[in-house]
Amino acid sequence: MSILLQRSGYLLREKEERLDQAVQSLPEEDVYAPADPFLDLKARVHERLIHELDVARLAEQDPVTVRANVEEASRTLLAAEDVPMARQERLRIIGEIADEVLGFGPIQPLLDDPTVSEVMVNAPDRVYFERAGVLHLSDRVFKDAAHVMRVIEKIVAPLNRRIDERSPMVDARLPDGSRVNAIIPPLAIDGPTLTVRKFAREPYQTEDLIRFQTLTPEIVEVLRACIAMRLNVMVCGGTGTGKTTLLNVVSSFIPPTERIITIEDPAELQLRQRHVIRLETRPANIEGEGQITQRDLVRNALRMRPDRIIVGEVRGGEAFDMLQAMNTGHDGSLTTVHANSPRDALARVENMVLMAGLDLPARAIREQISSAINLVVHLNRMRDGSRRVTHVTEIVGMEGQVVTMQDIFVFQGRGLDDQGRVLGSVHPTGLRPKFSERFDEYGIHLPASLFEGAAA
Ligand SMILES: Nc1ncnc2c1ncn2[C@@H]1O[C@H](COP(=O)(O)OP(=O)(O)O)[C@@H](O)[C@H]1O
Ligand SMILES: [Mg+2]
Repeated sequence: MSILLQRSGYLLREKEERLDQAVQSLPEEDVYAPADPFLDLKARVHERLIHELDVARLAEQDPVTVRANVEEASRTLLAAEDVPMARQERLRIIGEIADEVLGFGPIQPLLDDPTVSEVMVNAPDRVYFERAGVLHLSDRVFKDAAHVMRVIEKIVAPLNRRIDERSPMVDARLPDGSRVNAIIPPLAIDGPTLTVRKFAREPYQTEDLIRFQTLTPEIVEVLRACIAMRLNVMVCGGTGTGKTTLLNVVSSFIPPTERIITIEDPAELQLRQRHVIRLETRPANIEGEGQITQRDLVRNALRMRPDRIIVGEVRGGEAFDMLQAMNTGHDGSLTTVHANSPRDALARVENMVLMAGLDLPARAIREQISSAINLVVHLNRMRDGSRRVTHVTEIVGMEGQVVTMQDIFVFQGRGLDDQGRVLGSVHPTGLRPKFSERFDEYGIHLPASLFEGAAA
């Protein structure tokens, strides 16, 4: 099992466990892909085809015509090979050769299939895909490791990225928005590995998160109010706890009339509003030049007359520019940060500001933080895999050197049920948030009982 996981190389961490379970549940005979007796033939025809095709002319035609022409040419070449095969077989091979020439080879049909959410090439003959949360072994195979490499190169070349021994891993995005990670030897011990996380899935909506018990309708109301009041909200939690998903949901409360600028590395948010400008960082090119950081983008965004700035996840020096922006009238901003608790989130932001290299005293940074950030929502991934909001915490001010916070909602666990599911829910603490004093000003009518703690 662990060998398969090692082979799959770098997978997003939150995926690993599921992959683990899924591969374990594969029947033994499924683990070996059938050998394709026509691999050599296909490679031969493909090579001849590349020589004979008039690429310049193909580029002028529409995709359907191009595909028809390539299929016609491979039909002719295949006939010349004079290998006996059934008609079905012949059609399949022609299609596969066309995929090779025009697309990303053996995985192209999986990429085209809307029911497939993820494609993983662990080895030339181990192509897995995920459909409806379940992992399957595909019958599509690569000829050899060099074939996998060619497809990886075909993916990264148009992006002006390079993958070779000196830079053996690369993150990229396909034209349709799918995310690709490739990692090759020497880092991937058993050969080049490719992971494609397809971008198609409808993101979770507010109702989904309520159904999953990630949050309650009451918390949704409070978050709606915070957006209406243009408070600055930060979502925190560990990797894969659902920060980006929650950020997406909270962003949906922003009125469609506002101009939203999103800054991400890489772009993941799927906002429904129309007045959205999406910015994404850029890694350095082959010559090591041209890198654009989140910090560059935040600074640029400020010159774009934003009503809201959303930074997908703050990780570095951009934290400083964001705090400044929040403190100078660009309120109503949203972001996420990787942290273990609301308090930890603030500590991390403080560290990031230090990374910006401005030599500010800690107290000054904390003052900035306490006046900029209004609300922190913390997520946790529970033992049963569910994601829960564990804290909704208001930043109140400063006391001496310390930023003061008060919890408005906290999760109270009651152990596990007999099926191993987490029991418990997120309750109001009984503390009324300070910002509720301004509800009237914004025409917000939330019942005071919303914040009244049940006697715990
Ligand atoms: N509330 C939730 N309940 C169940 N699964 C979730 C929830 N939020 C996110 N997920 C799933 O968890 C994975 C990671 O979500 P994501 O929002 O990207 O996390 P993060 O930004 O914290 O790394 C995704 O596969 C997503 O579909
Ligand atoms: Mg995220």
